[in-house]
Amino acid sequence: MSTNIASSRKYAFLSLLILVLAGSTGSFLRFGLAYGMPPGWGAFHNIIHAHSHTMFGWTVLALMTLIWRRLPAYTGRPLPKSVSWQMAATFTFSLLQLFAFWPNGYGVTRIGSAELPLGAISAGLAGFTWFWFMGLYWRAVRGISSTPTPVRLWNWAVILLFISSLGAMAEPGLMMMQIDSDFVKQLFLHLFLDIFTTGWLLLAIFGAIAAHLEDGKSLAGLPSARMLAIFIIPTCLLGMPPDQLSTGLFWIASLANLAVAGMVAIYLYRFFLRRRDLPLLTRFGLLGLLVQIGAAALMVAPGVWAWGAGALRIFYLHDMLLLWSSSALLGLLMAEFGHGKSAWQTWTEWLWMGGVGAMWLALLLGGFVQWLPVSGLTLLAVAAWASVIIVSAAILGLKIFLPFASRA
Ligand code: HEM
Repeated sequence: MSTNIASSRKYAFLSLLILVLAGSTGSFLRFGLAYGMPPGWGAFHNIIHAHSHTMFGWTVLALMTLIWRRLPAYTGRPLPKSVSWQMAATFTFSLLQLFAFWPNGYGVTRIGSAELPLGAISAGLAGFTWFWFMGLYWRAVRGISSTPTPVRLWNWAVILLFISSLGAMAEPGLMMMQIDSDFVKQLFLHLFLDIFTTGWLLLAIFGAIAAHLEDGKSLAGLPSARMLAIFIIPTCLLGMPPDQLSTGLFWIASLANLAVAGMVAIYLYRFFLRRRDLPLLTRFGLLGLLVQIGAAALMVAPGVWAWGAGALRIFYLHDMLLLWSSSALLGLLMAEFGHGKSAWQTWTEWLWMGGVGAMWLALLLGGFVQWLPVSGLTLLAVAAWASVIIVSAAILGLKIFLPFASRA
């Protein structure tokens, strides 16, 4: 991919298109939870796989677009030629997962006389394009004379993406090897899910924010990307079901999580000092990190962690993946590839913040519903309708990247 703006803008558009489709699927699930699934539309748990795998495609493609756009300025070299093929493949296979997982999830689908695990195949192909990206990234940064803050953060983000991808690859691998241990399955699931979310996404978005703020001066004094990455790795254990984690492992993970929260708080403070230079949605996304910091402090109490792991799991995931990561990314994409501030953008921003804020609150309150004077069904309905606003915002957002070529 040349780093020309039209090409990058096209991928900003395509990543948002994935968000629209995966978000519509999530919205469909939210209505299913509130009002019941319509018969004949597939099994809830299979559609969750379709939604979550495809959503990861949105964040991955958005980040790759931002990284490839900025990287040549730091390396002083053009991007490797095959980047354009890698980006096309990442888009195609990310989207394919939506249709491959929907009918049977990780199970097999009959096509003619063949029975194929379509979901696992599509996830494997999408994962392959992540490894391809990692290889090209290392080629692009190998031997560069200086490593500015964004590149340092991306280097470690890519290492965490590698570890997380191994976890993702393990899922179909374990199926093929017929390993049925619940502990092993959960371990690899959280190696994938949690290191992707609180590892790769966190560091890579921090890198993209640092690149946006660019002038290195006021960003000095940030905690080292390497320390942050190393402490993040054991925190994935906190995603395990409480009955499968020994006390010793809990304390290792919990204390590491506390250290991560301390470092994230410093990043947050530094970014807050430069808030006027950040896009509105990126500032909004930073609010999601406050939850991560607060949760890390509360989770030191094993009882609170065990309760939260059940009651607040979906809230916490969407705090990190939707409020923080998706808002921050959407803000950065619009700032980098939009055609300047427009009415479309203003509508997108306010609808997005309204919808995400309402869904976030409904999911949070859902964890405490037994103590509240409101029914669980009402909260599910609020979350469902809020999701329509989020998807509408994302649809409006598509217009911001059109046309691909600059108007000037
Ligand atoms: C329009 C915004 C979104 C809506 C309406 C939505 C909806 C949902 C719903 C209904 C579930 C199942 C909840 C349950 O089991 O109780 C879910 C799970 C999940 N979603 Fe989302 N979601 C949204 C955004 C995102 C984003 C942006 C990501 C990732 C980047 C994401 C990743 C996930 C994951 C990983 C799960 C859990 C899968 C599992 O249980 O293994 N979602 N979402």
